[in-house]
Amino acid sequence: MVRIAPSILSADFGRLADEVRAVTAAGADLIHVDVMDGHFVPPITIGPLVVEAIRRATDLPLDVHLMIETPERHIEDFVRAGANGVTVHVEAPGDTTAALAAIRRAGARVGLALNPPTALERTRPFLGGIDLLLVMSVNPGWGGQPFVPGSMEKLAAAHRLRAESGATFDIEVDGGIKPHNAAEAAASGADILVAGSAIFAAPDYRAVVDALRSDRARS
Ligand code: DX5
Ligand code: ZN
Repeated sequence: MVRIAPSILSADFGRLADEVRAVTAAGADLIHVDVMDGHFVPPITIGPLVVEAIRRATDLPLDVHLMIETPERHIEDFVRAGANGVTVHVEAPGDTTAALAAIRRAGARVGLALNPPTALERTRPFLGGIDLLLVMSVNPGWGGQPFVPGSMEKLAAAHRLRAESGATFDIEVDGGIKPHNAAEAAASGADILVAGSAIFAAPDYRAVVDALRSDRARS
């Protein structure tokens, strides 16, 4: 069954612990934490101190998405703060191989992300050593953007590549996921759906989490 990862980027940061508890109670499978440094993407969001606070509010795995330059310098801090998985961008300036190795060494799940304009091919050298491939379906930086056309095809290509290579990583999709396109994303190959604005802008988080999972019959 597809797993749902609410992105706390769209939560009310003034009530962050309550928001995390609310999506946990609503049936989320993971908590997706968007870290931005003002360099790799223009906004600045949160760091390890906030991850630590989220860690205290839930027992769910924390899926930390680093949209930052030279991620290899910060991995240990995020894992120590409570990240269960850390994802770095293949486009990020810095040493991707070192970053992935640092995540592994720290004992967290190893994730690699790629942006909509980046060819899947670019991730190929790393696929044997990752636990998660994050296919961005918006250009990173902000919640609430529309799903980039072509992302369903990219998910399907990632799914084929995984089968061909014999690798076992999960495929996660992030950006513009709503109840109306969730089933298609899952059918195209996504194992984990990230959703921010779809969940946190709704009055009833559980209703949206259930609607996002409505591919149930297919899996
Ligand atoms: C975008 C972030 C996403 C974002 C998703 O840079 O990586 O996780 O919060 O938000 P929605 O679901 O609103 O597109
Ligand atoms: Zn994200």
